[in-house]
Amino acid sequence: MAQVSIGTLGDFEDGRPTFAEADGERLCVVRVGDRVHVVCDDCPHAEASLSEGDFLADDLAIECPLHGSAFSLETGDPDAPPATEAVRVFPVTIDGDDVLVEV
Ligand code: FES
Repeated sequence: MAQVSIGTLGDFEDGRPTFAEADGERLCVVRVGDRVHVVCDDCPHAEASLSEGDFLADDLAIECPLHGSAFSLETGDPDAPPATEAVRVFPVTIDGDDVLVEV
């Protein structure tokens, strides 16, 4: 595992899912205040791009734009079918202003 910078806090708009790539991994990045959550961008159901989905602030989840399963940004677990598998969650470290993802 390596820590890879995906940018600075200012590169990510609060509450707006954003696509990023690091070390060949496709990532969905969601900044919430001074915290940043990163999950795999590919929905485990049918590989829709989760960064094109909606951030659900009340549930701290990302909603798949294709079939609507919502994945916890903390555990990766889906709330309801059709997705049944969790999406991978990547550990994030904020170092000063840098956003580092463990991939
Ligand atoms: Fe995401 Fe179907 S592709 S729930």
